[in-house]
Amino acid sequence: MPKAELHMHIEGSIEPELFLQLAERNAVQVPWSDVDTLRAAYDFRDLQSFLDLYYDGCRVLVHAQDFHDVTRAYLRRAHADGVIHAELFLGPQGHTSRGVAMATVLEGVWAAMREAQREDGLSSGLILLAQRHRSEAEAFELLEQAMPWAEHLLGFGLGGAEVGHPPSKFERFFAHCRSRGMRVVAHAGEEGPASYVREAVELLQVDRIDHGNACVDDEALLRQLAESRTPLTVCPLSNLRLNVSDSLDTHVLPRLLQAGLCVTLNSDDPSFFGGYINDNFLQCQQAYGWAPSQLVELARNSLDASFLPEPQRRAALARLDAFVARAPRQWSAA
Ligand code: ADE
Ligand code: ZN
Repeated sequence: MPKAELHMHIEGSIEPELFLQLAERNAVQVPWSDVDTLRAAYDFRDLQSFLDLYYDGCRVLVHAQDFHDVTRAYLRRAHADGVIHAELFLGPQGHTSRGVAMATVLEGVWAAMREAQREDGLSSGLILLAQRHRSEAEAFELLEQAMPWAEHLLGFGLGGAEVGHPPSKFERFFAHCRSRGMRVVAHAGEEGPASYVREAVELLQVDRIDHGNACVDDEALLRQLAESRTPLTVCPLSNLRLNVSDSLDTHVLPRLLQAGLCVTLNSDDPSFFGGYINDNFLQCQQAYGWAPSQLVELARNSLDASFLPEPQRRAALARLDAFVARAPRQWSAA
C-alpha cells in the first residue's frame, strides 16, 4: 500500500551485517565479532540504554560512501514496503563531534536519496535533529553549519534523551529555524510527560510531534491536537523495545485514534527495534483486529502529514486512491 514514512533515523537503520562490514572497512574496533552477538546486544531497558549503543555505533560511519550505503539500504527496504515518500532523520552532531565533516555526511545521504528517486521513484527529504542533551548554543551551531545546504533540507527536529531536557530548552532555536522557513518537528511524550508535548506545540510551534504518546494524559491537549490536526508520528514497535509500553494491548494507539488524532505509523530505528514500517502496520493490525480501511486511513494520514509540496502530495494521495480502487471491496468500506 502506498504510504509515507515520517519518523525514521538513518543511524537507526544500519542492519547488523552492514554495521560489521563498515566497522571492518573503516578499521573501527567494536565489541561484537558476529551478527548474532551484535543482535543480542539489542536488549534495551529504556531510551538511554538504546541511545548509548546507538551513539557509540555511529563510529562506523566515517566516509560519504558509508552514509550513502546506510541510506540507500533503508530506502530500498522502504520501497519494498510500499513507501513512496520518506522523511528521514539524521543527527549530524553525533558525527561532527567525532570530526566527520557536515559535507561528508550530507553529500553521502543525498547521493543515496537521489539514487532512490531515480531508480525506484521514491521521493525523500531530510530533517536534521539537534540532540537534546546538548545545549541550545550547540543546536544553533548545527543550524549555522547546515545553512549552506538550507535549500535542500526539509527542516529541523529534536531527538535524544528526553527526560530532563524539555522542549522549552530549545525555544529560541526553534523560533530561529521557523524564521528561516524551516519545518520543525520534535520528539515529545515518548518517555517525557504530557507537558513536554504541550511545550512542543505551544512554545516550539512544531508542525508534527514525534511519538507524542503521553498526550493521552491531558484531555484538553488531546482535543487540541485533534482539532488542529497536528500529526503524531507514532512508532509502536519502538515503544515496545524501549519499554515505553508493555504490549500493544496497553499501548495508547487505540486511544489516539479514538480521540480523532492524525496518527501515522513509523519504524523509528528499524534495525534495532525488530521491524520496518510494514511490520508496524501488521503487528498493530493483528493486535487490534483492524479492518483494511483502518490501514488505509493511516496511510492517508502519512501522506497528509508529509511535507510534500501540494501537487506531489495530491499525486501521492491519488496513488493511494488508485490502490484502494483496485483492492478487494473491504479495503474501501468505512
Ligand atoms: N534517536 C533515535 N531514536 C530515538 C528515539 N526513539 N527517541 C529519541 N531519540 C532518538
Ligand atoms: Zn525517533
